[in-house]
Amino acid sequence: MTEKDLLYDTILARSFSKNEQKRFGYGAFIASLLFVFTLCTVFKPYLSPLPIVELQLSVDAGLRMLRITEPQKPQALMSSNYATTSEDSEELMIPSNQNNITSNATTTDDQSQISSEEQKLGVCNDTSLPKNHHDSFNCTTNTTVSNEQVISGGDKREETVKPICQKLARTDLCDISGDVRIHGKSATVLAAITSAFSGNSTWQIKPYARKGDVAAMNRVREWTVKLEQNADFSRCVRNHSVPAMLFSLGGYSMNNFHDFTDILIPLYTTARRFNGEVQFLVTNKNLPWLNKFKEIVRSLSNYEVIYIDEEDETHCFSSVVVGLNRHPEYYKELTIDPSNSEYSMSDFRSFLRDAYSLRNADVTARRIRRRRPRILILSRSRSRAFVNAGEIARAARQIGFKVVVAEANTGVANFAQTVNSCDVMLGVHGAGLTNMVFLPENAVVIQILPIGGFEWLAKTDFEDPSKGMNLRYLEYKIEAEESTLLRQYGRDHEIVRDPSAVAKRGWEMFKSVYLVQQNVSVDINRFKPVLVKAFELLQRQSV
Ligand SMILES: *[C@@H]1O[C@H](CO)[C@@H](O)[C@H](O)[C@H]1NC(C)=O
Ligand SMILES: *[C@@H]1O[C@H](CO)[C@@H](O)[C@H](O)[C@H]1NC(C)=O
Ligand SMILES: *[C@@H]1O[C@H](CO)[C@@H](O)[C@H](O)[C@H]1NC(C)=O
Ligand SMILES: *[C@@H]1O[C@H](CO)[C@@H](O)[C@H](O)[C@H]1NC(C)=O
Ligand SMILES: *[C@@H]1O[C@H](CO)[C@@H](O)[C@H](O)[C@H]1NC(C)=O
Ligand SMILES: *[C@@H]1O[C@H](CO)[C@@H](O)[C@H](O)[C@H]1NC(C)=O
Ligand SMILES: *[C@@H]1O[C@H](CO)[C@@H](O)[C@H](O)[C@H]1NC(C)=O
Ligand SMILES: *[C@@H]1O[C@H](CO)[C@@H](O)[C@H](O)[C@H]1NC(C)=O
Repeated sequence: MTEKDLLYDTILARSFSKNEQKRFGYGAFIASLLFVFTLCTVFKPYLSPLPIVELQLSVDAGLRMLRITEPQKPQALMSSNYATTSEDSEELMIPSNQNNITSNATTTDDQSQISSEEQKLGVCNDTSLPKNHHDSFNCTTNTTVSNEQVISGGDKREETVKPICQKLARTDLCDISGDVRIHGKSATVLAAITSAFSGNSTWQIKPYARKGDVAAMNRVREWTVKLEQNADFSRCVRNHSVPAMLFSLGGYSMNNFHDFTDILIPLYTTARRFNGEVQFLVTNKNLPWLNKFKEIVRSLSNYEVIYIDEEDETHCFSSVVVGLNRHPEYYKELTIDPSNSEYSMSDFRSFLRDAYSLRNADVTARRIRRRRPRILILSRSRSRAFVNAGEIARAARQIGFKVVVAEANTGVANFAQTVNSCDVMLGVHGAGLTNMVFLPENAVVIQILPIGGFEWLAKTDFEDPSKGMNLRYLEYKIEAEESTLLRQYGRDHEIVRDPSAVAKRGWEMFKSVYLVQQNVSVDINRFKPVLVKAFELLQRQSV
């Protein structure tokens, strides 16, 4: 999609008055932005670490400030929907001062004890841009919901409650403890309460952490979470002694990028605290996925996964989490919010090293530094393939690298070993770069951007995440001459001449041309300095 252009349009629209816009001009503004990006890209490695970080922070901050101004529909491109529905501020509540919701709630006559602490939930700042790929989203804007609510008991006394379900920007999440019963065939989670309850006690939830992305969420089964007073529960057929987590393997699963950003990282941050003593309940059964990531699933849960959709028997638990938590902000991929989680990306990467028995934790370790640095050239076999991988490999060898060329299709465990044995990973923008999670700390990622306006995607999907993983990041943006699109369409064709205008026609257009039809033939003379930079970075101690 034309995120870049949308971004520029948005910035344009917001940072200049109409007159200024005319005077200053679209082109000039883009040129100045490009200049800033170019500065970052070209000069980054030559600068000492501190100014680099500052420069990038100021760019980030600038974009962010521009983005959070009042929402506005940038283009017909996205079917955005900024309406704040009353539903968005609803929360499902249970009495808070008990873990055991079958027992009597503690009641109080004293209204002053009712906390009115409010918490912003589900506020989506960056409504101006469609996120990544397929997203056309409607996130909750300007929603301040009370984190506590008063419910009435039968005798008019009041109780303080805490929410069991939260609507966050990218995920809905229910954390229920007490007497919880799950019936798979009807997609129902029942929580027993004994006290009277006012307000809505029913909640619809899709347990996949990419809320707002219509295409993804259409592939996720919807569950109903219900509070039932004096419920006539069917007998528990299967009693479980450990807590459960219910999540979906639908959505965009089996795309490596989405597997990590939508499922594995959220699964890790939600499940790790149970130390294996948790029962996974999978909705949208997906055996290939479970096979693909069996090492990770096994490391997080000591129990066989239950495909809950098929279950006609009632399963009972004392505690259930429905949905997976993820970074609360839009546009944050492959990352963990430290203020929102007890775990960090370092923890996650260290967990991965354990799960896959990866030996290299940090490229600056002495054992690794003594040998020749290794570069992994990520090959792709269908689109965005390197036309001249051999030439790149030769150049890298000349500089002093040991070269590994591999495609990420050998199974996760196998490929994780390959990646972890390298100090540099080089690849064209695409899901394969997600394998950076297996690189040792302080390794270098080189992302190659095809033509078509990949800047925004590149930054959001891989540049920003790489920094959160303590990796060094380099970028190389190809010229039209280095794209096979030039040969295919000729220099004067709009697709080559004005990619942003073409891409602006929508995601499908962007995808069918720039993602699918394009291969990359790197100009070695132009590219070599990037390889040299990567080599030099490895001689330095650390980020
Ligand atoms: C829940 O409450 C019931 C009745 O008050 C009690 O018998 C039971 O032991 C409690 N269970 C837990 C886990 O606290
Ligand atoms: C719950 O409260 C009612 C009335 O306040 C009381 O009669 C009953 O014994 C209580 N039940 C439990 C389990 O504490
Ligand atoms: C979103 O808003 C929250 C609170 O209003 C703020 O802390 C956060 O930095 C904002 N995020 C972005 C990307 O602007
Ligand atoms: C979100 O947008 C989709 C279409 O883009 C629409 O069908 C749906 O009703 C919207 N939901 C809310 C809560 O606004
Ligand atoms: C939120 O909405 C209310 C009412 O619609 C408005 O008064 C308030 O200014 C809004 N706040 C923000 C931060 O947009
Ligand atoms: C409660 O929520 C359900 C589902 O969202 C809805 O169908 C029902 O009308 C709501 N009931 C009340 C009283 O708001
Ligand atoms: C499950 O536990 C409940 C309550 O302890 C008990 O009544 C029921 O018989 C148990 N069911 C099975 C199959 O063990
Ligand atoms: C790109 O390269 C792949 C692998 O060599 C090839 O199968 C494909 O046809 C190429 N596509 C284009 C548009 O050149």
